[in-house]
Amino acid sequence: MIAFNPSRYQFGHFLKKSIFLSFLLFWSITSAWAQQATIIPIETQRFGMALQVGTDKRVGIIHFGTKLNNSAEYQYAPAMYRRGDDYSGILNAAYTPSGSRNLVEPAIQVTHADGNTSLDLQYVRHNVQKTDNNVSTTSVVLRDPVYGLEVTLYYKVYTAEDVVEQWSVIKNNEKGNVTLNKYASANLYVSANNYWLKHYHGDWAKEMQTEETRLTPGIKVLDTKLGTRANLYQPPSFMVSLDRPATEDEGRVLYGSVEWTGNFRVDLEVDPLNNLRLIAGINPHASEYTLTKGQEFTTPLFLYTYSDKGKGAASRNLHRWARNYRIMQGNGSRLTLLNNWEATYFDFNEPKLAELIKDTKRLGVDMFLLDDGWFANKYPRNADNAGLGDWQENVKKLPHGIGYLVKEAQNNQVKFGIWVEPEMVNPKSELYEKHPDWVIRQPKREEHLYRNQLVLDLSNPKVQDFVFGVLDNIMTKNPNVAFFKWDCNAVIYNAHSEYLKNKQSHLYVDYVRGLYKVLERFRAKYPDLPMMLCSGGGGRVDYGALKYFTEFWVSDNTDPLERIFMQYEYSYFFPAIAHDNHVTDWGKQPIKYRTDVAMMGKLGFDIVVSKLEPNDLQFCQDAVKTYKSLSDVIWHGDLYRLANPRDNDFASVMYVNEAKNRAVMFNYLVSNRYGAGTLSPVKMGGLDPNKKYQVKEINLYPGTQSSITGNTSYSGNYLMTVGFNPNVNARRTSVILEITEAR
Ligand code: GLA
Repeated sequence: MIAFNPSRYQFGHFLKKSIFLSFLLFWSITSAWAQQATIIPIETQRFGMALQVGTDKRVGIIHFGTKLNNSAEYQYAPAMYRRGDDYSGILNAAYTPSGSRNLVEPAIQVTHADGNTSLDLQYVRHNVQKTDNNVSTTSVVLRDPVYGLEVTLYYKVYTAEDVVEQWSVIKNNEKGNVTLNKYASANLYVSANNYWLKHYHGDWAKEMQTEETRLTPGIKVLDTKLGTRANLYQPPSFMVSLDRPATEDEGRVLYGSVEWTGNFRVDLEVDPLNNLRLIAGINPHASEYTLTKGQEFTTPLFLYTYSDKGKGAASRNLHRWARNYRIMQGNGSRLTLLNNWEATYFDFNEPKLAELIKDTKRLGVDMFLLDDGWFANKYPRNADNAGLGDWQENVKKLPHGIGYLVKEAQNNQVKFGIWVEPEMVNPKSELYEKHPDWVIRQPKREEHLYRNQLVLDLSNPKVQDFVFGVLDNIMTKNPNVAFFKWDCNAVIYNAHSEYLKNKQSHLYVDYVRGLYKVLERFRAKYPDLPMMLCSGGGGRVDYGALKYFTEFWVSDNTDPLERIFMQYEYSYFFPAIAHDNHVTDWGKQPIKYRTDVAMMGKLGFDIVVSKLEPNDLQFCQDAVKTYKSLSDVIWHGDLYRLANPRDNDFASVMYVNEAKNRAVMFNYLVSNRYGAGTLSPVKMGGLDPNKKYQVKEINLYPGTQSSITGNTSYSGNYLMTVGFNPNVNARRTSVILEITEAR
């Protein structure tokens, strides 16, 4: 990395110009020199990034990583790297423009009003705005000296959590329309010897498959082009370890996530100087965006956190940020529930549901959640190929409407929640017949369905009204509905909006903006109603959406063995209070194992309670009580990942409350091999080394006993240095330990 060199570009020029121009140039050079030392630090408690305004007014990143005690010393960092020459002088740009001297992946690419495709961005001013003692936002204004196009970079820091949210606002100051061909949220520049990317991929029922690989020179792109259900193949969260893969407790690591519920793209480019250029934001694929004169474009936020103490600390910081600032009611409580989806699928009626509501009470959970299949009459929703879009109660299944079920729930002292999928339509529906123009599809192409359905065009304000109305009508008629599960099962094929006319390339962006408008409106009217973010499983888990939701559905795959791996990976980025885990009949494991796995996040059930063996029912009832007694620690505590199921025969995670006087440790066998289990103690984390703790096995199956009784006291120091063996083996496939401060 080298600093900007004004003489190379400006001095030759200087000699050729007239005296007047020379004077002007002299003036600009001297004023530029006066700014030479302008360093803009973006800092949290432990993280520091330094922007430097060069003598040529270009803003570059000269430090990214652990914060320095003295921010004046950031300026010395670039000279220490001897990795070759940066001929362009802008490899480290804070927001890399396209079409001028840049030769690498741009953060922004535009076509000016006169058709010119080059962009230069120079420093104008910067400013820091303090929200409170923890949060402040630095803004840096850049402008094209020829075209006047303006970009403001925003860096919002959450000091205690070591989290930064970054975005940009692009303003058209030209005389006519400007086309944005690429418009990233953030552009980072990181220096290390090696970069190890841990990223995710998957499909339905295969969420959060992971790879951790070294980045080689060139560009690795993480992206999606699916439109809705955008994360089916790839979620927008990832991490990059610097120098070597970070462990839970050691190493430098950057976590990143695009806060956008649609097409995103992250470019990770190891440049000719072996630095990492990271560019993240909306996917520009098929999404050129026109800005009219004077118009601004605000990009979504790119979220990141940095830790030099390993992945564990990075997760805990991100979780704390998410609970304090992002997820709805992040520090609040959640409703345990019984869902009927796998118990009945589409096959139910009033008496059957009334029984399930009684079972909800019997189980001891807080709420009954009615899933898909309750609506549509002309084309009844008896399978997934009809009725979607027709949100009237099916009169055969529910002759007395939702109101009757809400009352039944009240009579049984439980709450009532309901499933909706308001963005979608089956071609076999009245909605489709009435409003074919509301459907996203290419007029001259054959329709291509995903799960027998199509996507409604949320760029159209009338469709936004309709989608809002689906939920609002339910609430207006049944004000005691206590919960929504908002699903989204289809991707966008044949992207075309009748509403957008000649602005087709706005569709992917305007769809998401339309969705956010609906969610804003919903939240303005129903600020506290808990809501699950679901997308055929975890097809839409991002921090842009989670602003409006209390929780997300991890996956339709509820086989507990699979879930351990998924929940473990989600735990890097999302706190347990947001993970919806249900006990179902997937997998062949005993009920205890299934329940113990679901208890690691927010517990729910999707089983036929009436068919449970007496001991299984007793176990579930006890487990619900145990869970309620532990939920404060699980929902609001700090997470310590103790054993990774990918590297061991078992997985162990632990939650510790803030006072460090209570913790819970979950241990699961993940191998069937002979002798598999915890052969050594597992080192705990997060305890107070000076406190004494009792360790007791809880959540035992009726009739079984444990030798881990809590009679011995151990110091936190012992439990974190030697550890504790939960004694997981083929006869004890899941073990929950409660760790309490000894009095
Ligand atoms: C999706 C959800 C499931 C269930 C079904 C209903 O697949 O992920 O939980 O709600 O839809 O059709």
